[in-house]
Amino acid sequence: MPRLFIAIDLPEVVRQELCRLNVPIPYSRWVPVDQLHLTLAFLGDVGDERVAGLARALGQVSAAPFELHFDRLGCFPSRSRPRVLWVGLKPEPLLLTLADRLRDLLRDCGIPQEDRPFSPHITLARLKLPAARECASFLDQPLELNRLSVPVQEFILFESRLTAAGAIHTPLKRFPLSGGSGGLPA
Ligand code: 2AM
Repeated sequence: MPRLFIAIDLPEVVRQELCRLNVPIPYSRWVPVDQLHLTLAFLGDVGDERVAGLARALGQVSAAPFELHFDRLGCFPSRSRPRVLWVGLKPEPLLLTLADRLRDLLRDCGIPQEDRPFSPHITLARLKLPAARECASFLDQPLELNRLSVPVQEFILFESRLTAAGAIHTPLKRFPLSGGSGGLPA
C-alpha cells in the first residue's frame, strides 16, 4: 500500500541554498538536499486500487501559478523543546488556496486531513533529542533567502517509501497549475 503525500518541489539552486542553513546539532537528521520539498497535504497509506482515481480527482483541481517567498526559520513544537527545524514561507493567498483545495478534495475522497490550519514550511531537520541551545544557532542565523522568489508551476503526488536508510520519495504524477484566478474571489 503506497504512502502518499502532495508537495511542491523546489529548484536545485534553492535546495542548495537551504542546505547552507545546516548547523551541527547532536542527534539531528537533516533532510537530504534532493528531498527538500514543501508538503501541501499528507495522505498516508492508500490502497493501490485507489491511486488512479485519486490522481484523476487531483487533475480536476484548478489553481493558478504563484511564487513562494521565504519568511523565517522556526521549529516545532517549541523553541525550548525543538524536534523539527524548518523554514517558513509567507502565507501567499494562492498557496493557501491550493492547500485548502487539496485538503478539501482529500476529505471528500474519505482521506482524513488535519483540522489545524495549513502552516507552510519546509522541514530541514528532525531531532531525536531536543537540543535547545544548539538549535538557537540555527534559529538565530540571518535568513538571506528572503531575497529569493520561487515560481511554482505544478504540484506533485509523491510516494514515500520508508527504508532503513531513510525515506525515498518518488514522484508519481505532476499536476500543472494553469487555472486563471486560482479561484480566489474577484
Ligand atoms: P513535513 O513537511 O512537515 O515534514 C513526507 O513524509 C511528508 O509528509 C513530510 O515532509 C511530512 O511533512 C509529511 N508527513 C509525514 N507524516 C505525516 C503525518 N503523520 N501527518 C502529516 N504530515 C506528515
